[in-house]
Amino acid sequence: MASSFPSTFPSSEQVSSLLKNQSTVVNGASSGVADAPFYRAIGDEVEVFRAAARRGLPVLLKGPTGCGKTRFVEAMAHELGRELITVAGHEDMTSADLVGRFLLKGGETVWVDGPLTRAVREGAIFYLDEVVEARQDTTVVIHPLADHRRELPVDRLGTTLRAAPGFQLVISYNPGYQSVLKNLKESTRQRFIAIELGYPSPEIETEVVAHEAGIDTETASALVKLAYAIRNLDGSPLREVSSTRMLILAGGLAAEGLNLRSAVHAAVVEVLSDDDDVIRALDELVNTVLPQ
Ligand SMILES: Nc1ncnc2c1ncn2[C@@H]1O[C@H](COP(=O)(O)OP(=O)(O)OP(=O)(O)O)[C@@H](O)[C@H]1O
Ligand SMILES: [Mg+2]
Repeated sequence: MASSFPSTFPSSEQVSSLLKNQSTVVNGASSGVADAPFYRAIGDEVEVFRAAARRGLPVLLKGPTGCGKTRFVEAMAHELGRELITVAGHEDMTSADLVGRFLLKGGETVWVDGPLTRAVREGAIFYLDEVVEARQDTTVVIHPLADHRRELPVDRLGTTLRAAPGFQLVISYNPGYQSVLKNLKESTRQRFIAIELGYPSPEIETEVVAHEAGIDTETASALVKLAYAIRNLDGSPLREVSSTRMLILAGGLAAEGLNLRSAVHAAVVEVLSDDDDVIRALDELVNTVLPQ
């Protein structure tokens, strides 16, 4: 029974060193990161997020890999002056990984808040990335937090925490992956407002790639043109298309002095496929779209 455990709470140093082992990334206001993350809006997502934040509504971000979901949340957390606590969903994740657990430390049993509990206590933005990778019994712990109750039952402590003002739940997934159909329960998703982040328009994507890779607009624009050609391929055998992230990586190689076609071959073509025929076809496309 929970009450039979000693209720010694660890120091903040103990918590942070334990949390470091839980693939948790902390960003934003309280971590001393002063610069606003560069984020270029692609639609009305910033206004929607601001309104949701004012109401404390949970947000579901949808979009393919590398389209800017994480960067968007980082930028919003910074704008709102909230700490951002990010956890990547994975299939072995348990609710204790989110809520917390008793640990033996120096012969003493201490309770250590999980990242979700910490976000609830501190009024932070809690970002659960790739939520569908987590098992359903794990995601159920977010239900009472995601509706009007704004509560987190911490069974092992025999208590229920009310979320501090400012607490906000953000989850993301890539609808392109099949697993979502079986993994994200209707009862989970209907608690959220949803924002779809696709790839930006060519103009905006060019600006993003130029900024992030540190290349000129002309080169960035050529990369974006190529990405659009790949995204619009008829009957494409590719599982994923060229993301903004891939273009930034290619641009980064070009900024290091590599020939643009070689940069694209390494950062885009070889990454998208292992099939020799597909790779050859993509290289041909690259040669027609990109300047020598
Ligand atoms: N609209 C944007 N404004 C600024 N930077 C962007 C934008 N979209 C993408 N980026 C850039 O693309 C990179 C990849 O984006 P990000 O990591 O946010 O993707 P993601 O959607 O979270 O991908 P994943 O699903 O794989 O986690 C960012 O590091 C950033 O450099
Ligand atoms: Mg991400």
